[in-house]
Amino acid sequence: MEMELQALPQPLLLAFFFLLALKFLLKSRRSDSNLSQVLSPEPPLPPGPWRLPLVGHLHHLVGKPTHCLLGDLAAVHGPVMLLKVGQVDVVVVSSRAAAEAVIKTHDVNCSNRPDVAVARIVAYDCTDIAFSSYGPFWRQMKKVCIVEMLSARRVKSFAAVRERNILDLMTNMPTGSPVNISEKLMTLSSNIITESSVGKKYDGFLPVVREVTKTITGFSIVDSFPSWKFLDVLTGTTSRFWRIRRRLDKIMNEIIKLHQAEKKSNPAEEDLMDVLLRIKEQGDLEIPITFDNIKACILDMFLGGTDTTATTLEWAMSELMRNPEVMKKAQIEVRETLKGKARVEDGDVEKLSYLKMVIKETLRLHTPIPLLPRAAKQSCEVMGFKIPEGSRVVINAWAMGRDPAYWEDPESFWPERFAGSETDYKGTYLEYVPFGSGRRICPGYQFAMATMELALAQMLLCFDWELPGGMRPEELNMEEKFGATASRKLALWLIATPRFPPPA
Ligand code: HEM
Ligand SMILES: *[C@@H]1O[C@H](CO)[C@@H](O)[C@H](O)[C@H]1NC(C)=O
Ligand SMILES: *[C@@H]1O[C@H](CO)[C@@H](O)[C@H](O)[C@H]1NC(C)=O
Repeated sequence: MEMELQALPQPLLLAFFFLLALKFLLKSRRSDSNLSQVLSPEPPLPPGPWRLPLVGHLHHLVGKPTHCLLGDLAAVHGPVMLLKVGQVDVVVVSSRAAAEAVIKTHDVNCSNRPDVAVARIVAYDCTDIAFSSYGPFWRQMKKVCIVEMLSARRVKSFAAVRERNILDLMTNMPTGSPVNISEKLMTLSSNIITESSVGKKYDGFLPVVREVTKTITGFSIVDSFPSWKFLDVLTGTTSRFWRIRRRLDKIMNEIIKLHQAEKKSNPAEEDLMDVLLRIKEQGDLEIPITFDNIKACILDMFLGGTDTTATTLEWAMSELMRNPEVMKKAQIEVRETLKGKARVEDGDVEKLSYLKMVIKETLRLHTPIPLLPRAAKQSCEVMGFKIPEGSRVVINAWAMGRDPAYWEDPESFWPERFAGSETDYKGTYLEYVPFGSGRRICPGYQFAMATMELALAQMLLCFDWELPGGMRPEELNMEEKFGATASRKLALWLIATPRFPPPA
């Protein structure tokens, strides 16, 4: 939201909202009466902070990253909270019990995605996996995604892609002077996703994908005031999205043509575009898919996998720099396990139990998608409160990952907390849901873990890392950026010293 707001002449816009707010004040007072609630047996609406008419709680959502602000508000108003963001009802869920009601008890009613302009336009009218409404089409595509695109077997088939790109990163790592690690990790993540999805690298693809990612902020002005079309005209939002879609479409068409021209005979060599084209051609899906569906699903891979993976790795390296004893322990594990080998392979990762805990702990403290984006198809009752039909439901995964009710010393980076713990990535334990939970859970977690574990292990094996300019560990800035993905505000710069071949 912040990014959208910053794109506008802010003082003017705020003044405008303020005037309108005053104008509507009386009217809204009357409609706020809860007499009808007292008389009817319906459960009450969830509580929330004070709000302005018209803009609602929009003014509460400036200053800090949205998930932090929502966490602060929940500490005052409780685990089920109702906010009015512009014209949209937003229910914020911030405890295990409340999340269980939403994700388990009312899974069917709360498994929609919010209706956002960028998805309608860029994701081909939401005919993808991530943005399509809960229903037969989504169910079919999610199944295709889980069984054919991101299955353990398919993820394994991309081992060579991962290993090649990570080796590339290692051999091109400048040593002895500060390197923009954030940039390196972003390139790594996007190269792995690109190659796995569409094969070769395609110029011009990445900038478009980056632009889409930037615009998915969750609470854009246009999505908060859907009935005010003039805001769209004023901000040029829809036309910007259409420009992005046209550019994307052109590249996708080229990619499809190239794939159709050279079909792979060996299924083990298929990239995800090959997979989808084959499924389309076989034609035995209940709901036939179109080329637009295929483009939308491929776009999902980029949107779902690129920033999230890079951000997790970036935070993991940041936390390891802030906690030298954890770094040391993780490095010793990798170097002793690999015993003189210079290259980590997929199979080695299974033995790196401490490294796995480091990644788990990173996903807890720096949940890449801090707010799970859901919407209520029908109204339902959660912990005695009514979730209005059509409202957005936001599950604050970040806040639950830091709640002292579930975690000892929650603000500390302490991977050992996961030793012997049963906490998994499948959303079984609702205080730990970095990949979401229930029907809408992330289908890409195996793909992501394979990339992250291999990359981190290889980085710790090949190099020793140092902060630039004699910076002390506790001086490293850990602020977050605004956006749908909680990445570092300031890029991470580190100095690499090669340890090749690694010490025995
Ligand atoms: C560290 C990396 C990743 C994180 C933290 C992450 C997190 C998430 C989260 C929180 C959701 C929403 C879940 C919910 O609503 O309950 C999601 C959905 C999704 N993710 Fe991921 N993800 C990651 C990597 C990936 C990768 C690598 C891919 C694909 C290659 C991917 C594809 C998707 C798709 C398609 C969805 C939509 C699922 C649906 O709506 O049914 N993600 N992800
Ligand atoms: C969804 O909501 C409707 C209406 O409140 C209710 O009748 C139905 O049982 C709910 N479904 C689930 C699975 O909770
Ligand atoms: C470092 O990389 C990040 C991520 O790609 C980029 O946003 C930033 O501008 C880079 N910093 C510099 C100084 O080049």
